Amino acid sequence: MGNTLAFSKECLITGLLAGIIIGYAFGFVMKQREVEELKQQVLRLSAQIEQLRQAVPPLKVLAEKQGIYIGAAVGADQLRIREYAETLSREFNILTTENALKFERVHPERNVYSFAEADAIVSFAEANGMKIRGHTLVWHNQLPEWITHGNYSREEWISILYEHITTVVSRYKGRVYAWDVVNEAVDDDGSLRKTIWLRNIGPEYIEMVFRWAHEADPQALLFYNDYGAEGLGVKSDAVYNLVKSLLEKGVPIHGVGLQMHVSTEHYPTPQEISANIKRLSDLGLDIHITEMDVRLKLPAESADLVRQAEIYRDVLMVCLSSEKCTAFVMWGFTDRYSWIPEFFSGYGSALIFDESYNPKPAYYYILKSLIRP
Ligand code: XIL
Repeated sequence: MGNTLAFSKECLITGLLAGIIIGYAFGFVMKQREVEELKQQVLRLSAQIEQLRQAVPPLKVLAEKQGIYIGAAVGADQLRIREYAETLSREFNILTTENALKFERVHPERNVYSFAEADAIVSFAEANGMKIRGHTLVWHNQLPEWITHGNYSREEWISILYEHITTVVSRYKGRVYAWDVVNEAVDDDGSLRKTIWLRNIGPEYIEMVFRWAHEADPQALLFYNDYGAEGLGVKSDAVYNLVKSLLEKGVPIHGVGLQMHVSTEHYPTPQEISANIKRLSDLGLDIHITEMDVRLKLPAESADLVRQAEIYRDVLMVCLSSEKCTAFVMWGFTDRYSWIPEFFSGYGSALIFDESYNPKPAYYYILKSLIRP
């Protein structure tokens, strides 16, 4: 009797245990199925998103329909990074040489030119059907020591600059669409900046270099490029007066570059930019937005990203509304490579793709602005 009782107790426990195990196993199998199904759903959704993405044309296709170039400043080394190169060639149809053609890079010693980086960028652009903005022939920054510590006569300074411009422009003759011939020659108070060139040659250096660049490549569009002269004010008046007087003297200048390094705290209003573009284009000049970025205080909140997107959109819309504004170029395109964190402490996230090449709100606002009848 006692044995029978013990036996049925054992049976009961074993049965219960078996039941629990089978229950768990069943539940486990069901969970696995659910997980599997969820995985499939995610895959289907990703495929759909990818299809949608491909149905939306890239920026350059839309920009072309609007009659403008859209682009970014680039570094030669980064062109070797697959995602960088793919995003560039997919989205843009104009590139600016960010540093490759600056005096210190391209002409580091008096008798040494170093064209490898610029060559790589120009070849990449050509292989992808993109235009090139050459940046920059005459500037007060990023000069080699043989210039900054040089002790030459006025005649020597003139021949140094002549030889530099003739050599660099001739090398890319017919391949550079537009040159920033003179960069930032006007100071914030509207006077001519006291650069090494002004001090050693005099104010006529500006007209000289435009003439030499034109001689070396008569096809290239020649630009005066500056920051802080996008809207209205003392500096943009000075830039306006400078280019007007150059034109009156018959100097070959074809456009003005508005750099457009702005922040969500400080930026010129669309009305001001529009008025400035209007008076410059009334002189017969082309306008390029040459270096746009909109820096944000870090860490950036989503509201900041939207505000940033609105500023990109506003500037693009002003450009689109002028016949003579023919290029919209940003100073980079991915937050992975941007000059902002190094030069503006505490700021970043200034471009339209994030560090992983994902489009940010600014990208979509630009896209939307380019889709219009
Ligand atoms: C910046 C580059 O982006 C940096 O990599 C470099 O160290 C300094 O110059 N205005 C100009 C550009 O005309 O040439 C500058 O580019 C940014 C401000």
